Amino acid sequence: MNKKKREERLHAPRKTIVATKPYAPASEQFRTIRTNIMYSSIDVPLNAVLFTSDMPGAGKSTVATNMAIAYAQAGKRTLLLDGDLRRPTSHYTFEVSNQTGLSTLMINDMDWRAVIKRTAFDQLDLITSGPVPPNPSELLSSKRMETMMQMLRDNYEMVIVDSPPLLSVTDAQILSKHTDGVILVTNVQDNNRDRILEAKELLNKAGANIVGIILNNRHPEHALEDTFYYNQSTEEYS
Ligand SMILES: Nc1ncnc2c1ncn2[C@@H]1O[C@H](COP(=O)(O)OP(=O)(O)OP(=O)(O)O)[C@@H](O)[C@H]1O
Ligand SMILES: [Mg+2]
Repeated sequence: MNKKKREERLHAPRKTIVATKPYAPASEQFRTIRTNIMYSSIDVPLNAVLFTSDMPGAGKSTVATNMAIAYAQAGKRTLLLDGDLRRPTSHYTFEVSNQTGLSTLMINDMDWRAVIKRTAFDQLDLITSGPVPPNPSELLSSKRMETMMQMLRDNYEMVIVDSPPLLSVTDAQILSKHTDGVILVTNVQDNNRDRILEAKELLNKAGANIVGIILNNRHPEHALEDTFYYNQSTEEYS
């Protein structure tokens, strides 16, 4: 597949199965994961969860989006935050503008409410990545990011954060410090025990609370393309 085709696929609106086929087995699985997250910490309920992966293209954004909708469907006031400032996709998924978003908030002193996008789901709000910045890791480790995350957590019952893959860049490790729990998504089709262990080690080093691992089952034909594409953007932005 050539670069144009890859771009087209990345930028195409995406259907979220939890919304379009709520009774499909996969949708039921997302609800089960939601329940498991709720029960993973009974005393102090998790109110910000990071979704990351070992490798690019594992399905983080797909899983994070479906989980955000599943929370909203359960009546929880939910925010989906696109913390992938390198290959963001939430604005394509929800077909909204990405002129303002997380990067805008980090660069300008403005109210987070100004960049909130409403979605078709009553209880679900969205903050897209905003324009891709030259220094994502720096922005994510700023004091402003910490303050903003606290504000988001105070205003939503659940904040779901999407992020880049662990083995490519440090962003997810940084983001894990702003959340109570981390879910590691891996594509079982290109399953590699060593890579998962390496990703887990990086999360442990960051002091993250690993809540669970999601074994996604994505067809292997795309795996190599994703790695190629990500390496390009990694070279460019980090
Ligand atoms: N279980 C699945 N079955 C079929 N297609 C899937 C599955 N999971 C993800 N996909 C598709 O694979 C592609 C990559 O998924 P997604 O964008 O969620 O991965 P990602 O981990 O966020 O990638 P990136 O590292 O680029 O951020 C998308 O086109 C998505 O629709
Ligand atoms: Mg993604």
